[in-house]
Amino acid sequence: MIKPQTLIIGANSGIAKAIADQILKNATDNLIVISRDLSFYKNKGVPPTHQIEVNDYSAISITQAVEKIKDLEIQSINRIFICHGVLHTNNIQPEKRLEDFDASSFVEVMMANALAPILWIKSLTPMLSSKHECKITVFSARVGSITDNKLGGWYSYRASKAALNMLLKTAAIELKRRAKNIKLISFHPGTTDTELSKPFQKNVPDGKLFNCEFVAKQLISIVDNMPIDNTLSYVDWQGKEIEW
Ligand SMILES: NC(=O)c1ccc[n+]([C@@H]2O[C@H](COP(=O)([O-])OP(=O)(O)OC[C@H]3O[C@@H](n4cnc5c(N)ncnc54)[C@H](OP(=O)(O)O)[C@@H]3O)[C@@H](O)[C@H]2O)c1
Repeated sequence: MIKPQTLIIGANSGIAKAIADQILKNATDNLIVISRDLSFYKNKGVPPTHQIEVNDYSAISITQAVEKIKDLEIQSINRIFICHGVLHTNNIQPEKRLEDFDASSFVEVMMANALAPILWIKSLTPMLSSKHECKITVFSARVGSITDNKLGGWYSYRASKAALNMLLKTAAIELKRRAKNIKLISFHPGTTDTELSKPFQKNVPDGKLFNCEFVAKQLISIVDNMPIDNTLSYVDWQGKEIEW
């Protein structure tokens, strides 16, 4: 029997590595990983089936990576996890007040969190054969919900995740006409213990800071139980819908 195929993009993220670990441990799927840093996978006893290194997540790098996937002549991809996202870097901190807002930081966060995921979806969609179901999960965040925004702050990150959600919603409407086999999921993992959340963990209530393994197991179960219904689902780690 042919194994299902999973693709993980931004595979060096803390949560992405935990998803990969689940898949490799249970040997359920063939696995392709894409990242700027594949060292975690190079040292694995059982490595992913294919590893594709990218220099960055520019439009040209994304196009070239998808060409490499096409060269693998895989029959179908059944699950895709687009995991990358930026909240802070050496030069960027989430804004506490308007005075902190910086044009070039905003552009960098938007490119990583909103532009790159839609470029992946644009480039991958033509190779997702209409005969096979494919569920594409993109990592969003609850702070991308306009209704949920009670605290303010984090202008760029919030705006990038709200923009991501709008791009995904628009894509879901188009795919309903053009590729009914594709399901889009915009996912909030909850506050999870990774490099991204490290500087902001001290105010997280007891029991609300998840480990990556827990989130990965939750997500895999959510994805596997999600019907292909030609809509975008915006859900959290419990599978509960988030208001837009
Ligand atoms: N951790 C949380 O508490 C939390 C909460 C809500 C939402 N999320 C979302 O969940 C996703 C995964 O987060 P994580 O916590 O696992 O993050 P992480 O461990 O900090 O991993 C960072 C991820 O972002 C990618 N990345 C780093 N710089 C980038 C850039 N300049 N342009 C594009 N991509 C870049 C990395 O790709 P490489 O593989 O190439 O290094 C990697 O996939 C993100 O979308 C994040 O916004 C996380």
